[in-house]
Amino acid sequence: METTRLLLRRFTVADAPTLAAYRSDPEVSRYQSWESPVPLTEAERLAGTFSAGDPRAPGWFQYAVERRDVPGLIGDIGVCRSEDGRQAELGFTFAPEFQGQGYATEAVARLVRFLLVEEGLHRVSAACDGRNVRSARLLERVGFRREGHLVRSTWIKGEWTDDVLFGLLAAEYGAGPSAC
Ligand SMILES: CC(C)(COP(=O)(O)OP(=O)(O)OC[C@H]1O[C@@H](n2cnc3c(N)ncnc32)[C@H](O)[C@@H]1OP(=O)(O)O)[C@@H](O)C(=O)NCCC(=O)NCCS
Repeated sequence: METTRLLLRRFTVADAPTLAAYRSDPEVSRYQSWESPVPLTEAERLAGTFSAGDPRAPGWFQYAVERRDVPGLIGDIGVCRSEDGRQAELGFTFAPEFQGQGYATEAVARLVRFLLVEEGLHRVSAACDGRNVRSARLLERVGFRREGHLVRSTWIKGEWTDDVLFGLLAAEYGAGPSAC
């Protein structure tokens, strides 16, 4: 898939060193389930698994994101399709040097259009830590609605954390900022 500035493609094992580098950043992993640092061997295992995934099967498929003008991984977006294939959940991570430039919004907006318009899914959702304001801002920019706030609902990195839930229906798509 392409956007104005980006390419969303399948992972390859060659992405492993960059994946290890940005997933090892404590700021990047702060609200995520994995522990940093991520060793290169673990990143190679992950990239191998990602590269073999089926983007239309139930469960997670991880898209690699790169700029169209400069080759190389800048981030990844996970899409988890439900068993019946009618809904999907999103998760996203971008390397620090490629944050703050609208790349994540551009990539997520493209995937949302793919899922809701081109694939005909009913709903996409996402959840983030209550303190992850950048993630929440991104989701609202793309057109997601805040649907709930679960208090101290997830045990992660030694503490109970809040989860903020977001959703976007196909029936709503295009009515708001998700038209971007
Ligand atoms: C969540 C995450 C992807 C958000 O990244 P981000 O850089 O804030 O999002 P974008 O790439 O869309 O950039 C948006 C910012 O770029 C700015 N920007 C600069 N140039 C822009 C352009 N040409 N177009 C759009 N926005 C632009 C926007 O104003 C916005 O800044 P603001 O939030 O200060 O207003 C990132 O913080 C991340 O990877 N975090 C670690 C992993 C994580 O927690 N993931 C979420 C788990 S739920």
